[in-house]
Amino acid sequence: WVKMVTAQTPTNIAVIKYWGKRDETLILPVNDSISITLDPAHLCTTTTVAVSPSFVQDRMWLNGKEISLSGGRYQNCLREIRARACDIEDKERGIKISKKDWEKLHVHIASYNNFPTAAGLASSAAGFACLVFALAKLMNAKEDNSELSAIARQGSGSACRSLFGGFVKWNMGKVEDGSDSLAIQVVDEKHWHDLVIIIAVVSSREKETSSTTGMHETVETSLLLQHRAKEIVPKRIVQMEMSIKNRDFASFAHLTCADSNQFHAVCLDTCPPIFYMNDTSHRIISCVEKWNRSEGTPQVAYTFDAGPNAVLIAHNRKAAAQLLQKLLFYFPPNSDTQLNSYVLGDKSI
Ligand code: DP6
Repeated sequence: WVKMVTAQTPTNIAVIKYWGKRDETLILPVNDSISITLDPAHLCTTTTVAVSPSFVQDRMWLNGKEISLSGGRYQNCLREIRARACDIEDKERGIKISKKDWEKLHVHIASYNNFPTAAGLASSAAGFACLVFALAKLMNAKEDNSELSAIARQGSGSACRSLFGGFVKWNMGKVEDGSDSLAIQVVDEKHWHDLVIIIAVVSSREKETSSTTGMHETVETSLLLQHRAKEIVPKRIVQMEMSIKNRDFASFAHLTCADSNQFHAVCLDTCPPIFYMNDTSHRIISCVEKWNRSEGTPQVAYTFDAGPNAVLIAHNRKAAAQLLQKLLFYFPPNSDTQLNSYVLGDKSI
């Protein structure tokens, strides 16, 4: 017999950024962060996990190609879910697995991204969140999504925020074992449904400095990061939560853009400096800043992760249409920059 579970998890984009770990093994951050979960129809990972007595080892395939599960991050997620596995019984199919059996049984995992892994769009976030969610369902773990987020966090920090839809906060937590470093939902995807997200894929090349390496070097060398984590982010988190709850777009846009710019300033303050944005990214920022100023009140927010691609959040459909028109003027359809639009999404299913 084989028992199988399939799960689908959307990716998320941070509007207050996570950058820097205080514990690299448990993946504990130096500050709280807040993100938007995208609609799974657009950018998501689909993962099928299966268990059978005939499997002799844990194996995983990513986009059809087998990958090694020997890395600590995969092992941590598998171990943590196995420790929470519960009895299952399916009389119809003659399947009975006790809590103890799970220690000896092996799983096969097949995972697909519906977007190119190298496109510079947070694929590890959706990937680890989906893996943990699917394994938890397969092994009948009783933990809620926040508790599961603390396990997904050990695969990739940003993954913990993909367990929920809408706007999500990752509490950095205080305790040493990381049990309070988990995600909670701020509001669901219906709360601010008229926001439209446009992603300008400036380059689909794999980034030169991975987030993991980049943030390690920043923690080692940047004094600006310490100031950001202690003095700036705690206040910004409170203000951002208020802007979201009140659907105050002017304040939301101001905080989102300022936090993206400070994250990239912290990268520049790293020794040697890390450059994630390029000339095209800078042109997009200028275009949005100019337009927002000419309108008197912001219509669009921009944010850039560890790469040159722009994530643009428009106030509503009208602002999104106007933004697309402006961007198409700079980046016609035959240019290297591709423009795609998305809406806010629901949680893992
Ligand atoms: C810039 O979660 O990819 O996207 O925890 O080392 O796997 P690891 O890093 P990762 O870093 C994401 C950084 C970011 C900001 C964010 O998503 O908050």
